[in-house]
Amino acid sequence: MSSLRTPCLCGKNFMQNDISEIIFTESQIQKRVKELAHEISDDYKGKQVTMVSVLKGATIFLADLMKNLSIPLSIDFMAVSSYKNTESSGIVRMIMDLRESPENKNLLIIEDIIDTGLTMHYLCENLKTRRPKSLKICSLLYKPARKIKEIKIDYLGFEVPDKFVVGYGMDYNEIYRNLPYIGILKPDVYRRK
Ligand code: IMP
Ligand code: MG
Repeated sequence: MSSLRTPCLCGKNFMQNDISEIIFTESQIQKRVKELAHEISDDYKGKQVTMVSVLKGATIFLADLMKNLSIPLSIDFMAVSSYKNTESSGIVRMIMDLRESPENKNLLIIEDIIDTGLTMHYLCENLKTRRPKSLKICSLLYKPARKIKEIKIDYLGFEVPDKFVVGYGMDYNEIYRNLPYIGILKPDVYRRK
């Protein structure tokens, strides 16, 4: 995709105008995040967890989730990329590795969305070789329609339809991350003109 339309920056509601439908409101997301946090706190009782957040899309989810966890935890970050515009390239690249060694730690990967599963598959294979004590996955969203790799998601927020979604940390060309809700991006924003 070469001749992409950049988001229209005119008018203060420009981001909202590019959304065709809000699929999860701010309060629906907050309610679900609290439920996930309770479940995780129960499961990890008596243990310390290292939350491995995948930059950049999962940062808002991580922040809201950790505020609601009652267990001792540390956070670390990885950055990978498999996306080119709205289509997965199929090739996952490590852009930034963890700061601390994951060896002998209870790792909980925090991801914004699992789409084809290629990114999560790559992350799990990579982390497993570094001998963590345990490894689990928490993803806010899952798009089952586009599955290539089967992923066992231990904690899932919501399933989503086969549409490109933005907001609550998720972007299109780095824009829309600061929308407090999750919405479907109008296809004319990313279609060739
Ligand atoms: P996968 O490797 O195809 O599972 O893609 C995973 C990554 O692609 C996610 O972590 C997101 O960063 C990005 N992604 C996939 N679908 C969407 C979407 O609908 N909106 C925004 N980002 C997405
Ligand atoms: Mg992501």
